[in-house]
Amino acid sequence: MTHLRLEPSLLDTIAGKVAVLTGGATGIGRSTVQQLCEHGAKVVFGDVVEEPSRELESELSPNAYFVKCDTSSYSDQLALFKAAYDKFGKVDIVVANAGISIRRDIFDPAEDITQEPSMKEIDINTKGAIFSARIGMHYLRQGGGGDLVLVSSIAGFKECGGLVTYTASKHGVVGIMRGLHLTATPENIKVNVICPWMTKTRMVVGIEKGWHERGLPVNEPEDVARAIVICATANRASGGLTHQGARLPFAGKIIYVSGGESYEIEDAIQSLEPAWLGKENSEFLEKGQEYLASDSTSWDESKLS
Ligand SMILES: NC(=O)c1ccc[n+]([C@@H]2O[C@H](COP(=O)([O-])OP(=O)(O)OC[C@H]3O[C@@H](n4cnc5c(N)ncnc54)[C@H](O)[C@@H]3O)[C@@H](O)[C@H]2O)c1
Repeated sequence: MTHLRLEPSLLDTIAGKVAVLTGGATGIGRSTVQQLCEHGAKVVFGDVVEEPSRELESELSPNAYFVKCDTSSYSDQLALFKAAYDKFGKVDIVVANAGISIRRDIFDPAEDITQEPSMKEIDINTKGAIFSARIGMHYLRQGGGGDLVLVSSIAGFKECGGLVTYTASKHGVVGIMRGLHLTATPENIKVNVICPWMTKTRMVVGIEKGWHERGLPVNEPEDVARAIVICATANRASGGLTHQGARLPFAGKIIYVSGGESYEIEDAIQSLEPAWLGKENSEFLEKGQEYLASDSTSWDESKLS
């Protein structure tokens, strides 16, 4: 893993950029809106709750602009991005942050199996992030590229008992990064994903007491926001093959945030593949990946000549 720190010299590169963010009313999203504006960006943010969003909008006026947007609605997200483009003429940074977790364990044996369980976590966390990525890519292309930052979770790569649907939804967010970054990078769109561990927002109220008693590491929302800003600035570092030890381009990365610090972990996962998959399997996989990435290949057979 690579320990990442915000490089103050890169913060100026945010000035004048236009960011679109989902879930900006509270927590990590709110702090990200504040940090981006503090460094000179214009931010158009969506959320379903109005009061704290309007407060934030007026606190940061005229640099932040709120649009009511349910991230699971495609038409709402179209309107969010259109508002940013109409107001500021471009989109440079997209942050898919909105998310929920439902504390009820639908796999509890006491649950009524005849009742269809809520799939809102899939709708908001996964479907919503796919919508942000798809529409975001469209607008980022207009300006010749930019940054797409997805907010997943520790539950995006690790076991998380009692939160099965949330865990699946956040593995899906890591999947968006893995599915997209190879084709996005040549378009100069850098896709990265943030996986925070416990962060002091209203999402973790239920586990907070025991967490502190055990002395486990805690993030403040601003720590995770800083990781998002790191992703939105890393590619503006000049020269070199690495940024603070992480391979460049800074794309296809997973940033784990714990105890207030940010760590890139995907480079190590990829480079250790022969160890955990076996050397031969890994070599075949590489050959297959090269074939799948070649111009002569398409999953859509109608496109094959
Ligand atoms: N707090 C943690 O420990 C933690 C850990 C890992 C990942 N995360 C992720 O971080 C992201 C932000 O969460 P947070 O901890 O700041 O919690 P939060 O509840 O403070 O923030 C989530 C925001 O998303 C908004 N939102 C919810 N449903 C929405 C919808 N349908 N459309 C638009 N906005 C919607 C909420 O109103 C809120 O403003 C989430 O994706 C969450 O899964 C949080």
